[in-house]
Amino acid sequence: MRVPLSTVRLGSAEKRNAFDAIDSGWISGAGEYVKRLEYSLAARCGRKHAIAVLNGTIALELVLRALNLGPGDEVIVPALTFVSPAAAVRSVGARPVFADIAESNWTIDPEDVQQVVTSKTRAIIAVDLLGHPCDYDRLLELGIIVIEDAAQAHGALYGGREVGGFGLASTFSFHANKIITSGEGGGVLTDDEWLADQMRLIAGHGMTKERPYWHPVVGSNYRMTNVTAAIGLGQVERWDELVSERAKVGRLYDRLLANVCVSPRPSEEWATTVCWLYTVCSEQRDRILDALRSDGIDTRAIWPALCNLPLYQDSAVREYPVARSVSRRAFWLPTWTGMPEDAVAYVVDRLVRACA
Ligand SMILES: Cc1ncc(COP(=O)(O)O)c(C=O)c1O
Repeated sequence: MRVPLSTVRLGSAEKRNAFDAIDSGWISGAGEYVKRLEYSLAARCGRKHAIAVLNGTIALELVLRALNLGPGDEVIVPALTFVSPAAAVRSVGARPVFADIAESNWTIDPEDVQQVVTSKTRAIIAVDLLGHPCDYDRLLELGIIVIEDAAQAHGALYGGREVGGFGLASTFSFHANKIITSGEGGGVLTDDEWLADQMRLIAGHGMTKERPYWHPVVGSNYRMTNVTAAIGLGQVERWDELVSERAKVGRLYDRLLANVCVSPRPSEEWATTVCWLYTVCSEQRDRILDALRSDGIDTRAIWPALCNLPLYQDSAVREYPVARSVSRRAFWLPTWTGMPEDAVAYVVDRLVRACA
């Protein structure tokens, strides 16, 4: 059996919407589906404003640009995550500064954040890592702007409130490997009207609504197409179903892996996590990955700690023992919405053999 790391099956609503958008002729960055997606996303996350954009990386960049961050400014990001938060900070000319992740949940450690704050710190990008929400009460107490990156955590809850609603602005990715997808795609949410207006302005060439071809700020084109939004809307309308189908896969792995040689990722009692990619740890990781790959199973080692990337040495201002340790041991098992039970059982069976 060949088992991919993840795969996508879009439903009939997504297909119907996409054809409808194509038939309407509205296939670029304006159209009813873009408006409906933005409305649904804002309603879902209890936010006043949502802006649909090209992807989750651009979503982060848009928030930073709208806040006018640039050279001389520092933004604190977790030392372990996919690279986008650090890259977005760099791309606006500011400096990412790493804080370690907490041992108990692998999200950015508020204690460590305090150690790296300087007079240049302007914001924190808090990544809801691998489906686990950050400790928002403690982060918000620090009195620094928090930007929530919920790319990996659609549907996760912090204290009963859904991610996408914390901090000054929140971002999502809708990449094909995400719980909610539009192929490529992203969204930014905020309750702040000024910030929302500024982001819309920048995302649409810096052109005012009132006066065509008048550009008070340097903008770009970050707009999601109506066809992409049509697919995204179909997914957002199935949000609970898609989150719970992934949870089913996660529960099956939990049960089958209960007495197996790998350890699960930690989570806090205050968090309701979601199953993006099922993540486990082992000191034998590299040997296990080789064995699983030779059995046709696409498992992957988690990202390198960002503090280990040569390009980001300037951002590593202290030791990052937790990020380095997790990065050395953690790996992903195949996970997708609707993954058949026999595929999960096959992965676990081969994993047990690989551990022996
Ligand atoms: C935490 C995080 N932020 C941002 C992104 C970027 O999203 P995109 O691939 O849509 O640019 C990702 C992608 O995986 C991510 O994991």
